[in-house]
Amino acid sequence: MDYKGTFPLAWFNTLPTPFYYYDLDILRTSLELLRKEADTNRIEVHYAVKANANPRILSLIQAYGFGADCVSGGELQAAFQAGFPASRVVFAGVGKADWEIDLGLEADIFCFNVESAAELEVIDQRAAELGKKARVALRINPNVQADTHHYITTGLSENKFGIHLQSLDEVLDLCLSLQHIELIGLHFHIGSQITEMDNFAGLCARVNEIQNHLDQRQLSVQHINLGGGLGIDYHHPSKLPVPDFSTYIQTIRNMLVLRPGQSLHIEPGRSVVAQCGSLISRVLYVKKGLQKEFAILDAGMTELIRPALYQAYHKIENISSEEPEQKYDVVGPICESSDSFGKQVVLNKTQRGDLIAIRSAGAYAEIMASNYNLRPKAPSYFSDDMKR
Ligand code: LLP
Repeated sequence: MDYKGTFPLAWFNTLPTPFYYYDLDILRTSLELLRKEADTNRIEVHYAVKANANPRILSLIQAYGFGADCVSGGELQAAFQAGFPASRVVFAGVGKADWEIDLGLEADIFCFNVESAAELEVIDQRAAELGKKARVALRINPNVQADTHHYITTGLSENKFGIHLQSLDEVLDLCLSLQHIELIGLHFHIGSQITEMDNFAGLCARVNEIQNHLDQRQLSVQHINLGGGLGIDYHHPSKLPVPDFSTYIQTIRNMLVLRPGQSLHIEPGRSVVAQCGSLISRVLYVKKGLQKEFAILDAGMTELIRPALYQAYHKIENISSEEPEQKYDVVGPICESSDSFGKQVVLNKTQRGDLIAIRSAGAYAEIMASNYNLRPKAPSYFSDDMKR
């Protein structure tokens, strides 16, 4: 059993809900551990900005010397603003628009992770126009299984992501023929919320095969980027607030055969930020149904869409109540039946006004917020600002 998170309840009681709460000490602990593992194993880390681009979170992450993995012009701008040096920024994504490519070229970012021959040609043209040479890594679709929700697997051949192994030679030839392209790496990403280390081992085995193929062609690249994807424990957010970066990195280190001088890069997102954040909400109403009771919150899928979109589990706690436990369907106020955070959730007896914490909401929550039903954007609060 996991225990309840500890929250500054007196402070929370003064704040309007819903809001995102970030425990920056948890974030710092994660970042320190990741820094240590990365340094020991000589790994370059590019934090995946898509997981959480809150400016306070971004600047804390960059202060630890990490780079950034961006997937849009907006993310590039947010990363630069937060102080990430362009020399540590990678730019991925299947559909980069011309203005976004230009932004990356003008800032002289470390690398474009390129997903198709068509994109390669456009980057070459834009670089020619701007008098630049673009450093690129080819994102290869390794056709490797990842045991996670089908919406967030990316490395199977049926996905839209990456260059298929069958067309790799053709794209390599194209790379070599383009004047304004410098091929510096290979990039992979098989999915997100992966907790089976075998999946990463499978990816490494495939990367080894691909590197052997490159050897045969007498080609080599300066770096291998294995993407992100390390999962977290949504069921026990208090027991495991900091992810096991060590086992993950050891798995890779044991499996992957790097060439002399080749560097290894990763792009973790969720594992870095998920456990430091919670969505805090108030119970508006407790409604008795025919066979069950609903706890109706003032937060909904507009603040955290993961349960509605991926049937994702998030631990839910009534942090105001110590009364005996009871089961509730915990739902939001949005006019959609899918606006539910969990069915038959065990909570301490709940009443109007109680504060509810939805845990592990540091990743893919605030950043995926919408204003559907014309709801205002929920604010964020940080443990460092707690009024004592
Ligand atoms: N690198 C690439 C190329 C990616 O596509 C992703 C995530 C990452 C890195 C970071 O992966 P992470 O370490 O966070 O697993 N909204 C979904 C997750 C979508 C992830 C998309 N790509 C969710 O809430 O579960």
